[in-house]
Amino acid sequence: MDSEALKQKAAVQAVALIQSGMRVGLGSGSTSRHAILELGRRVREGELKGITGVATSVSSEHLALEQGLKVEPLDSRPLDIAIDGADEIDPQLNLIKGLGGALLREKMVEVQATQLVIIVDASKVVSRLGERVPLPIEIVPFAFERTLERLRQFGALELRLEGENPYITDNGNYIVHLTLRNNDVYALERSLKGTLGVIETGLFLSMASRAFIAHPDRVEERLKERSSRMYGEDK
Ligand code: A5P
Repeated sequence: MDSEALKQKAAVQAVALIQSGMRVGLGSGSTSRHAILELGRRVREGELKGITGVATSVSSEHLALEQGLKVEPLDSRPLDIAIDGADEIDPQLNLIKGLGGALLREKMVEVQATQLVIIVDASKVVSRLGERVPLPIEIVPFAFERTLERLRQFGALELRLEGENPYITDNGNYIVHLTLRNNDVYALERSLKGTLGVIETGLFLSMASRAFIAHPDRVEERLKERSSRMYGEDK
């Protein structure tokens, strides 16, 4: 089975958790795309009613609207569920996200969701975050060279480019990719967030409550208790 078919299998299982009336966080990236398509199908075919989507990126918002979904901006109310992909997932369901460039809105939406469901193919599963991919970090463009100097103590860095220019996020910021060493990711998250010029990181720690991992022959489900206290939420 090709990787798109695997992503779709995981997405369909996650969307099966959505019930009528739910407010749903809509993830970003190629795996989340399958979830938005499946949600659109279920709504159009009358299987689900009263669904409101809250998008984690401009591109997800466009896709959801194309699918006929109702989309609202994030406000202070909780969401019932959010479904998103990930670039890496470890045994504790901690994540690296943001290689698609949408980490800040993803984190803000998903921290407000009662459950965050991650959909991945098995190639994203690692024993330690940073094993396969660098960590994306969103930084302020203003004096970004100095922010990069501050960040160098944490490992090798590369500014994400689009052609010859810095890649610009939906929020008008830059992204830098940090190669992780064998870090304590909780300590790293606090240190990075305490670094001047850093807006947000792609570490999503203790946020995911469920993962659907698509293997060639089956979809594996993993569960974990979540807590977003480290991100300022009360539970
Ligand atoms: C978007 O910036 C990301 O966080 C994506 O959710 C993540 O990169 C997974 O994307 P794919 O499903 O395209 O691999």
